[in-house]
Parts: sequence; structure tokens; C-alpha cells
Amino acid sequence: MNTSVWIVDFGSQYTQLITRRSREIGFSSEIITYNTLQKRWSEGIRPKALVLSGGPQSIFKDPRDYSFIFNEEKLPILGICYGMQIMGHVLGGKVEKGTSGEYGLSKIQFEDSVENFGLSSSFNSWMSHFDHVSKVPSDFKIMLKSQNGFIAGICHDSRPVWGLQFHPEVEHTEHGREILIAFFKKVAGLKSDWGDSEMLEEALGVVKKEKDAQILCAFSGGVDSLVAATLCEQINTENLHCFFVDHGLLRPQDISHIHVLQEKTKLNIQIVDAKKQFFSKLKGVDEPEAKRKVIGHEFISVFEQKVHEYENDHGIKFTHLLQGTLYPDVIESVSPHGEEGISSTIKSHHNVGGLPERMKLKLLEPLRYLFKDEVRKLGEALGLEYNWVHRHPFPGPGIGVRVLGELTPERVERVGKSDQILFEELKRANLYQATWQALTVYLPVKTVGVKGDERAYEEVICLRMVNSSDGMTATFSNMPYEFLSTVSRRITNEVAGITRVVYDITDKPPGTIEWE
Ligand code: XMP
Repeated sequence: MNTSVWIVDFGSQYTQLITRRSREIGFSSEIITYNTLQKRWSEGIRPKALVLSGGPQSIFKDPRDYSFIFNEEKLPILGICYGMQIMGHVLGGKVEKGTSGEYGLSKIQFEDSVENFGLSSSFNSWMSHFDHVSKVPSDFKIMLKSQNGFIAGICHDSRPVWGLQFHPEVEHTEHGREILIAFFKKVAGLKSDWGDSEMLEEALGVVKKEKDAQILCAFSGGVDSLVAATLCEQINTENLHCFFVDHGLLRPQDISHIHVLQEKTKLNIQIVDAKKQFFSKLKGVDEPEAKRKVIGHEFISVFEQKVHEYENDHGIKFTHLLQGTLYPDVIESVSPHGEEGISSTIKSHHNVGGLPERMKLKLLEPLRYLFKDEVRKLGEALGLEYNWVHRHPFPGPGIGVRVLGELTPERVERVGKSDQILFEELKRANLYQATWQALTVYLPVKTVGVKGDERAYEEVICLRMVNSSDGMTATFSNMPYEFLSTVSRRITNEVAGITRVVYDITDKPPGTIEWE
């Protein structure tokens, strides 16, 4: 992808947000590491604007050379937090170790002598720093100061270069969006180059390059595989074949969703019924990692076998594997400890991990430059129904990670039924979008209760609902008591073997979203 704005990652927890915000305001952008920046620089490649992110380092311990970045007179540069400290240090200002840091909200104010680009003269900003620029480099002015008297923003007298000690990309910063617009549009003079049509073009471009391919898709019916397949189907209608493996660890809503997609879309979706194989392999397995391994391994084996049969029956040979990989899975990023590497979401692609090498398939990943919210927008632009592209996430191993202990069809059914009740009530109370993910977990714990005047000694269902933006961190959802009470009453009444319902109020960290 050719992008206008490069965001150099120094390990800030907000680097992805800078990229998302710049795209939201209309500029194509990508995250790169310092090493990639250096490499591109040596090859003579330049962006239209450069952003230096925040990061946990101290300029006093950072041995890297940054001077080459500032040799380009006309290049717009925005330094955020650590990025501003790099700017101050390299260009001859002074950075000092703080005696106390500024964390959280801080009121900041434009200096009288500088242009405020039509922005409000004072506003709340989100700060997270210890070191600070105490003297601006020559040819720079102080643009903003914090209530504590620290320099909060600097600008060059004549070049399109700004440093901001606070984080305009974070929601808590008032007018953060306007500040970024002011920099990119007014200071850097960039023209908008990212929106729905560019996104579509970018994603379609990947598929168009392979229009004669025979494409195989491990289809889950989730947002990513659905949007990827729909895109692909636009170009390669005849040669796209989707396989949905029913491993018996699905909820009733997942099966009915696939039937709806078979009926309402043009996708060729083959349903592979492998329930028996999975349950027989899972007999006696109760350790979470062992269960995941069996499910992952069995998935690949069933998938491979069915695909071979299909190839033989239809006289075709697959050349490509379509995957709904998203940008957060491929971003070049720096860990909080400063090491560079390609980040990976360990759990998300386990279903088809290993397949491309074994089956000698080329990967086709039309969504690899997009964030989840962009994929949802793209799905809507492709005419997919709102409910389909705003579905909650569901893990590949399905209910397999929601039944603690051994997996049996009976336990899976109990989770399936309680899940059905939970979702019916979420929809009835108009709360589906009030939570990012909702699920039920089966706990093989016997507890005493009373059912119809008789003592019951039965098991427990746990409800889990969380709010999150990407699943990496999460907070438990604050759901109305009345809603929780209705769900609890229905589950204890309608699901056999359950006398008790509990609500999980653990955030992530320390708890993960799934229980296993
Ligand atoms: P955890 O439990 O790690 O989950 O906090 C974070 C998000 O990832 C989903 N998840 C998975 N998705 N395969 C998947 O496709 C998996 O093995 C897997 N494990 C967890 C989980 O549902 C949540 O949205």
C-alpha cells in the first residue's frame, strides 16, 4: 500500500490509534519501525508527512541517530510525546528528566503569540510523560503550555514541523481530532486520500491481481471471512469456494447464520459436518491447552481431507487460500520493551495455521491493511447486512473454550442453550451493541439449590460480557441488573442441570475474555 503518512512506532500504547485517527480524517497511513524508516530513507523513499510516536524510552538512553529525519526542509513532521522529545533533543533544544511526571488529564493553553489555527485557546489534553522539553530549539516557538507550566507544544517558525507533548489521538484529549486536522491539512497541506472508495479499491486491488486463481476459503461466517469472501466473489465469482467446518462446538446462532448466508449471498459455502470426529478425539481431554491443540489439529485434518475430496470431485486444484487477516495482525511494531518484531494475535488464526505451507497455497489477504472498523464499513459498502458485519467476535475453537473440563455433547448443548437465551434477551433489551462480546461458560461445579420445592445439586453457568476495542484489553460490561436477572431466571428455568448463574466481573488483564 502506498501511504501518505508514515507513523514511526517507538512503542507507545497509542501508536495504532494515531494510524486510525489519521485514516478517519482522510489520510492513508501506516505504522513502521525505526529500522524500516532508515531503510526507506536510504532508498530515497519519502512520505508526504511523518509522525514520530510516543514511547516508553528516555532520550538519554536512546543511542539511535535521528538527525537524518530533520534534514528534509519541506517534510511535514509531527512529534507526539517521545516524538517531540526526539525533536527537541536532536535540533538543539533541551530535554530534562522530570522530577514528577504528568499523567492523565492536563489543561493546556495556546500562547498568545502563536496562531491557534481556529482551535479553542485552552482545552484538556491526555498526558503520559516524565521527561520534558524545557528549552525549545532555535527557530522553534512554544505553541502550548500545560497548567503546570511545562511546554506542551512547539512549532517551527517556517517549516511544517510540530511537537506535541500530549496525545491528540486519545479520546480524552478535547479537540484531538481538530488538532490532527489542523496539522495535516493546514500545516502540512495534505490532500485527503483515504475514504470508503479508496479502501474498497485497495482491498479489491489485492484480489484483482489474482483473478485467475482457484481460491479456497476457510469460512467462519464472522465479519472478517465474510467481508474477505464477498470482496473476492466480486472479482472471482466462479473460482471461490468457501468451506465451513461444523465441529459441533458451535452455537445455534452460528449454524443458522451460515444458512442465512447460503441463502442470501452468492457465496458458494460448503458445510462440512465433522461433529462426530471432533467429539471422539476430544473424549477424556480436559486440559485447556490440550483441548485447543486437539481442536486445531482436527480442524486442519478435516479441512484438508474435505478439500482434497472436493478437488477430485470437481476436477480443480486450489492455488490460493483466502484469509481475513487484519492490519493489527501484521503491523510492524515495537514492544513496550523496545524490541522490534511483527506483532501477532496468537489465538486468532490458529484454525488454518500451517495449512498454506502443507497445501502449497499462496495466501490472499485483501484486508491486511485494514482495521476492524474499516472492514465493517467496507462490508456495508459491499451491501452486506448491518447485523452480519456488526456481529460479536466468536473464537475458532468455539464452545470448546467455554466448557471447563471435558467436552461432551451434553455440556456443549447447555452452553448453546444458555447462549441462545442470553442473545435473545440482549436483542430484546436492545443491548446487543452495548457490549463488545457476550458469552456463557459452563462450570463443572456442583452447587446446592432448590427447584420446585426440591433440593437440586446441579451445575453453574457463568455470563461474561465485556467492552473492548480489539480484544487485547477489556473491561466487564456494566449491564442493567434487570436484564441480568431475566437472563439468570430463564437459564435456571430452561437449561437442564443448571441451578446457579453468576456474572464475571473481571477485566482483562488479569482475566482473559474466554475462560480457557
Ligand atoms: P482472550 O480469551 O485471549 O480472547 O482474551 C481475546 C479475543 O480473541 C478471541 N479468541 C479467539 N479467536 N481463535 C479465535 O479465532 C482462538 O483460538 C481464540 N481464542 C480467543 C476471544 O473470543 C476474544 O474475542
